Amino acid sequence: MHRAGHLAARILDDVAPMVFPGQTTEEIDAAIEGMVADAGAVSATIGYRGYKHASCISVNHVVCHGIPGPKVLKEGDILNIDVTVIVDGWFGDTSRMYVAGKLGRKAERLVQVTHDALMKGIEAVRPGNTFGDIGHAIQSFVEAQRMSVVRDFCGHGLGQVFHAPPNVLHYGRPGTGPRLEEGMFFTIEPMVNLGRPETKVLADDWTAVTRDKSLSAQFEHSIGVTATGADIFTLSPGGKFHPTWT
Ligand code: MF3
Ligand code: CO
Ligand code: CO
Repeated sequence: MHRAGHLAARILDDVAPMVFPGQTTEEIDAAIEGMVADAGAVSATIGYRGYKHASCISVNHVVCHGIPGPKVLKEGDILNIDVTVIVDGWFGDTSRMYVAGKLGRKAERLVQVTHDALMKGIEAVRPGNTFGDIGHAIQSFVEAQRMSVVRDFCGHGLGQVFHAPPNVLHYGRPGTGPRLEEGMFFTIEPMVNLGRPETKVLADDWTAVTRDKSLSAQFEHSIGVTATGADIFTLSPGGKFHPTWT
C-alpha cells in the first residue's frame, strides 16, 4: 500500500507543471498514462466499468469523474486530478486540487476548506472511533464555513481491490457506523461545494456536476488505520498536496 500510494502521489506531484491556462485536460491525462507505464505500474481506471482514461480531471463545477478531453483550461480554473494505480496488485488512490494560473478569492477559500476537511477526517481515524466520527468531523467543519458536503459520492475500502466496503461517508453523526480497527485500508475523499450539495451525472454517464453550477473541490488520501491513528499512504513526496505549495 505504501508503494502504490507513493507512486500515485508522486505522479500528482510530477503533473503539476502541466496545469496552466491553454492546456487541455487530455494532454494532462496522456502524461499521467505515460508516468504510470514508465513506473511499470497499471492504471486502475483504464477499463474500469468502461472508463478509458488514466485519470479523472474535474474542472470548476464538476464534482468528480470528469473525463479528460480537448477542453482548454483558462485562467483561474480550479481542477481536481484523481489517479489510481495498481502496484503488484495493490491499489493507491489519491486526488488533489490544482489551479490554472492564479487562484481566485472564492476558489481559494473552497480549496482550503476542502483540504482542511480531509485532514480533520483523517484526525478522527483511530481504533475505537467509528466511520460516523470521520463523517461528522468533515461535515461539521465544512458546514461551519457555510459550504456543503456532497452526499452522492463517498470514500471506500481498498487494498487488492479498487472499491471495497465500507462506504466512507463524508457526513454523519458521532459514534455511528462501523468501528475502526487497526489494519483497515480505505480512502477519505470529501467533495465540497460552495453552493448546494446536490449533484447530477451528465449524459456521458460519468461526469458529476453541481446542480446549481457552484464550484466544487475534492481531496483524497488512501490511508491505513494504525494502533494509534492513521498512516497516510498517498502523502506528496514533494510537499505539493495543497495547490499553493510554491
Ligand atoms: N479514483 C476514483 C475514486 O476515488 C474512482 C474513479 S473511477 C473512474 O474512487 F472510472 F472514473 F476512473
Ligand atoms: Co477513491
Ligand atoms: Co480517486
